Amino acid sequence: MASTLRFLLRATRRRLKSNTCERLAPMPSACRRFQRRSPLATWAWRCSGSRASATWPPACYPSPSTIPKCWRPRSASADSSSASWRASLAGSDASVARGRSDLVAAARRAREHAHAAFSKFKVGAALETADGAVITGCNVENATYGLTICAERVAMFKAISEGHRSFTRIAVVADTDEPTPPCGACRQILWEFGGDLEVVLANLRAEKGTYRLTQLLPLPFD
Ligand code: THU
Repeated sequence: MASTLRFLLRATRRRLKSNTCERLAPMPSACRRFQRRSPLATWAWRCSGSRASATWPPACYPSPSTIPKCWRPRSASADSSSASWRASLAGSDASVARGRSDLVAAARRAREHAHAAFSKFKVGAALETADGAVITGCNVENATYGLTICAERVAMFKAISEGHRSFTRIAVVADTDEPTPPCGACRQILWEFGGDLEVVLANLRAEKGTYRLTQLLPLPFD
């Protein structure tokens, strides 16, 4: 009896141990903590590595293929199938971005939902969070015109409403030969909630350019 109890205790301890996430990975020196100037924003990590460099993302950045909170490679998880990974994100329309092309593809799909009855100009946006989720948006027009909301702001407000606070990139897609950059209002909102995001502009066929938000909004109001 006593040995059975001991066995059960040991087995339970083993199970608990294997289910517990490791502590968050320590931030390498390339990354520093800063407080966003916006009163709404909280602390976030910024890494000095350039996203344009071949080595991006730096070690501190949770890549889409790592599990949020645990930061363990997906393969280290007991159940690492992509279906279960996506299921673990259920509750929002978030999905895992595997790269820039996936983000653009998500923006193209979101564009299909645009309600552009007045301008007929459909726009899609896909916002990537620091833990690899993708939140999409499309423009939604209104009969009074002035209440129209752009795809980028829909994506950002959806993300904020779902509890996301840290962002890495946004893709914006429209059916134009030239890139369609975010309007002034969207640039301000993206800056306030997302900081110096990477902004990927694309049309239905190809990417048309990548910018940092500070290039598009060089002297932001804070
Ligand atoms: N629009 C966006 O959704 N994002 C932009 O970056 C530019 C403009 C929308 C607003 C409106 O519904 C339509 O495009 C025409 O201006």
